[in-house]
Amino acid sequence: MFGNVLVTGGAGFIGSQLIRRILPISQHIYVIDDLSTGQLEAIPESEKITFIKDSITNKRVLDEIMPRVEYIFHLACSNIIKSVIDIELDLNTNLIGGFNLLQSAHKHCLKLRRFIYASTTSVYGAATLLPTTEDYYKIELPYSASKFSAEHYCSVYHSMYHTPTVVLRLSNVYGPGQTILNPYCGVVAKFFEAIDNDMPLIIYGDGQQTRDFTFIEDALDAFLLAAINDGAIGQVYNVGTGVETTILKIADEVKKSTGHPDSLVEFKHKRPVDVVRRRNIDSTKIQRELQWRVNYSLSEGLKKTFLWFKEEGR
Ligand SMILES: NC(=O)c1ccc[n+]([C@@H]2O[C@H](COP(=O)([O-])OP(=O)(O)OC[C@H]3O[C@@H](n4cnc5c(N)ncnc54)[C@H](O)[C@@H]3O)[C@@H](O)[C@H]2O)c1
Repeated sequence: MFGNVLVTGGAGFIGSQLIRRILPISQHIYVIDDLSTGQLEAIPESEKITFIKDSITNKRVLDEIMPRVEYIFHLACSNIIKSVIDIELDLNTNLIGGFNLLQSAHKHCLKLRRFIYASTTSVYGAATLLPTTEDYYKIELPYSASKFSAEHYCSVYHSMYHTPTVVLRLSNVYGPGQTILNPYCGVVAKFFEAIDNDMPLIIYGDGQQTRDFTFIEDALDAFLLAAINDGAIGQVYNVGTGVETTILKIADEVKKSTGHPDSLVEFKHKRPVDVVRRRNIDSTKIQRELQWRVNYSLSEGLKKTFLWFKEEGR
């Protein structure tokens, strides 16, 4: 049972699903989100939830909440696509915001049990080591730089002040809750939406680029395991399936699972963020140390996503 929890970015995809998962086992959940890409409606209604519409760059609001919380799940972020459009926003949100949280938690959380930071496999860039392990990095985009730098501050606060940080490097998470109301959402939600609107599925590049797609429930398992295992403190973990999937294959699977095998695919020029040809994540460490498992295959995950999309995904 968690006590009082803070979830930053709780109106976003993963944050809102995390809140649903931990609500029954939390005393109270404080959510800080500036709603820049998140939706208030994504947060379940409950007396046990207090929503604060504000930015993690606002130190005053952080200092006010911190004395009350024991678990911090830090998911607020400016996303990869925005990072190349507004590099300063990316730096302020992902690095300065993350630093503010660590500093405020250090100063004001008297009973902090965990500070879990949702980082990203984007720190691996166009990796030459595949499958990629935690000791590798290749920083090419602003988002990778700001997220990786915030990881370093987790390490600094853990080393200097014993802040109980855990870094989870997530990889292409998809599933129920990923909504196209966020224009920067991932490719899976975009494909479901295209089929629903009888539009072609847009692929940037030739579609042969691969990603390691993780179903939301598997990703959430990693957050919970990191929260309950003391051995996770001070560690960095990859969270991915180890399965490489091309974007063309995702398009085919989505077409199949929706019963629209003849939907068209339209190829467009690569965007500035499309620098990664292959992504394949080695998650041996979290499997060995926290007994994390991949429970959902891509086809199972897509089936569940489709069911959600039909019922409430728009
Ligand atoms: N979705 C993925 O595939 C994926 C992969 C790797 C890492 N991650 C990481 O997981 C976390 C959650 O990702 P997501 O997919 O749910 O993203 P999301 O964009 O759906 O959610 C991010 C939330 O942060 C909020 N936000 C943005 N700037 C803020 C600020 N200054 N103050 C407060 N709130 C702010 C947004 O309004 C949004 O609700 C992020 O930190 C991201 O880097 C996600």
